[in-house]
Order: sequence, then C-alpha cells, then structure tokens
Amino acid sequence: MGQLLGVLAEIYGGGAGGQMARYRVALDGFRVRYGPGPVHIFRAPGRVNLIGEHTDYNHGYVLPVALDRDVLLLARPRADGEVWLANVESDFTPRGFAVSDAIPAAPAGDWSNYARGPAQELTRLLGTPVAGFDGLVSSAPPYGVPRGAGVSSSSALTVAMAVAFAHFAGWRWQGAEMARLCSDAEWYVGTRGGIMDQFIALLAERGHALFLDCRPDADGDFRTRSIPLPAGYRLLVMDSGVRHSNTRNKFNQRVAACRAGVALLRRERPGITHLRDVENADWSALEEQLPEEVSVASLRGQGVALGDLPNVPDDAPLRVRACCRHVWTENRRVLATIDALDRGDIPRVGQLLNEAHTSARDDYRISTPELDVLTGAARQIDGVAGARLTGAGWGGCVIALVPDGQVEEFSTHVGRFYTRATGRQATIFPCQAGPGAGLVAVAEV
Ligand code: GLA
Repeated sequence: MGQLLGVLAEIYGGGAGGQMARYRVALDGFRVRYGPGPVHIFRAPGRVNLIGEHTDYNHGYVLPVALDRDVLLLARPRADGEVWLANVESDFTPRGFAVSDAIPAAPAGDWSNYARGPAQELTRLLGTPVAGFDGLVSSAPPYGVPRGAGVSSSSALTVAMAVAFAHFAGWRWQGAEMARLCSDAEWYVGTRGGIMDQFIALLAERGHALFLDCRPDADGDFRTRSIPLPAGYRLLVMDSGVRHSNTRNKFNQRVAACRAGVALLRRERPGITHLRDVENADWSALEEQLPEEVSVASLRGQGVALGDLPNVPDDAPLRVRACCRHVWTENRRVLATIDALDRGDIPRVGQLLNEAHTSARDDYRISTPELDVLTGAARQIDGVAGARLTGAGWGGCVIALVPDGQVEEFSTHVGRFYTRATGRQATIFPCQAGPGAGLVAVAEV
C-alpha cells in the first residue's frame, strides 16, 4: 500500500492522501464482490475545456484541460469472454455482457453501453474478441467526475474501459488511434460528438492544457501541443448543479445545423467537407449563403442530406447561420488564446473566454440562466481574467481564470451570489490539471 501511495502522489500531488482512502474502499469492494486475488486499477480523468466549444466535430481547434477527478476501474480478466460490471454507486446496478464484434446495445441510458462500445470497437480493430473482465467502477464525487456536469464523465468511463480492454488484450495503443476508437465507442452510445474528450482523457499532462487540431492529417494523425497553464492564476470550476435531460437530442441538432451549413456552402465550394474548410474565408460572404433557420424536412426537399443523426426530428428548427458563425469565430478565438498564452497576456485570454461565452450563449444557444449568473458573478471579482461555460452546455459548469490571491474571495462571493440569484448551491473547485488515463497499479486484495 505504501507503494500505491507513492504512485498516487505522482498522479494527484497533494490530494494523494484522500485518494488513498477512496482507492481502499474500491479495493475492499472489489474483494467482497469478486473474491481475493490480483486486481488491475485503471483510471481516466474528466476534463474542462478552456476554449473551443463545439468545434471538434467541425474539424476545428480545442484547448481542454484534464481534471484530477477521474473514473477508477478495478478489473480482473476472465477467461470466458464475458464482462461483469458493478459500481460503488448503488444507482448503477450490476451489468454483464458477452464480448463479440457485434455486441447488442443495452437500452439507451444503460451504463454498460460505455463498456460495450469499446469492447466491440477493439474487437473489430484487433480482429479477435478481447478478453472480458470482472470490473468495479468508482466515480463518485468528490474524487470522481461529476455526472452530467459537462466535464466528460461519460468519455472518462469509456476511456477507462478501453484502456482496460487494451491492456488485457496486450494492445499497446497510440494516442490518436485510441482516441478515435473511444470516440467511435461513444457513437455506439448515440452522441455524435467529436474527439476532444477522448484525446484529453488519454494524453493530458499535469499542469498543462492540450491544444488539439481536430483535423486529422493524411495518416490519420492529429497535431497536438501541451501548453502550460498560466502562472499566478487558478483555473476554477463552478458546477451550477443544473443537469439537463435530453442533451443528446439538442447536441445532435447542433451537429445537424453545422452539417447543413457545410452542405449549403458546398454549392459554391465543392471541395469542402467541414466548417474548418472555410476558416479563412470572409464571414460576411459566407453568411449570405446560410439561412437563419431551416428544418431538416425542408433541407431534404432541397436535396440536402445530413447523414446519420439519431433523434433529430424532421421539423427541428436548425439555426444554421448562427451556429456556423459560432464555430467560425470560436476557431479564431482558440488560436488567439494560444497566441496570448504564449505571450503571457492573460487579460487577453480572459477577454477571449468572455467572448466565447457570449458566442455560446447567443449564437450556439447552449447556455442557461444559471450559467450566465455564474459567469457574471465571476467577472465581478477584481483581477478575474474571464469566465465562460465549459463543455457541451445546457447546464453543468463554468470556468474562470482567477488570480492566486483571490481564490477565497472568489469562492465566497460567487457561491453567495449564485444562491441568492437562483436558490441553488454551486460547487466550486480548482482544476488541478492532472495526467491522462492509464494503468495505475496492480494490487492484491
Ligand atoms: C461534448 C462532446 C465533445 C465536444 C463538446 C463541446 O463534450 O463529447 O466532443 O463536442 O461536447 O465542445
């Protein structure tokens, strides 16, 4: 156990002591459920995104940061090709399935789909069924990734599962291929997201954000760069406590608006496949070719197909012009943020974060009154560089860059202000920028 504490200190720094207690509970739980013997401990972190929202599936730019809050998966391989899963949180009831290259999905919302997806995708990639395992998941806050809070708990779960399957299959993964596999595994669940969450969960470096260009090169590789977080500031996360249902449908509707934009712009620019392709075009020229609002059915009538997008009804209003404008301007903001970080110009970074929030709120329409209250309250504190919602939107979290010396005042003020304005309780915590996913240790229970 002393050895484990050393490993945890490398991952969590000063938080290792509390983590040790969490790991012990999980290890005990594993022994009680599956019996004594060796157990592999895998982990995958959640994330916040500094800037670059809803750009990844448009082949754009993102700048996520891993949290030190993570999903733990304790696992012991089985010889019969079956996967059995339990969870320390009792609302996730135990699940089991058999590994194959065509694993039937459990009903929507079933947590085992986050294991079924990676098991199927890795089996297909390797051409042979991966080994199953007995698994126990630990992801309850405060150490785990809060669920439905826009900090990527589902990708962390998918990545933890994928890393375990890969380990037991003896597959030595590379970042890009594994990130794509995990992203495909989430398409299995039904969300048509991009690759940001999987990349940061896999490739994060302590104390750094990860710049990712989401456009693959000819070899399928992606350009990445680790960027140190600004000295003298803390990246604070404010969880609004608002959890929205039905996010997948709204998410896919935004994807549909972007795809519609590409299809319509393609009439004059036949080569383009993603909004990224028009990043250097003049926006006012593009805008004229994009309708304010149009339905899927009306697009179909014009011969525009949007591809496979579950749960986007025919009469869904797609706000094509505003959504595309958000993506076009957001990509520029990400590049400007990198530039400002390189120059150490934190006020400029903050200004870009604020602009990104406005664009997400007004153009992409993914904010909520609660998130707007939090960003407003955050900006009232002297020296706060900027604040914006982070993640898919419709609830979840806001981030802010706060000077080291102002953290306490910030937390007190924002917490009180938020409760007065909304009657809700915000959970405010620092983003410690932890490392990426992997095998933590093999323990004996
Ligand atoms: C979700 C998706 C990501 C990304 C963000 C929005 O987290 O999984 O791929 O699209 O939303 O930036």
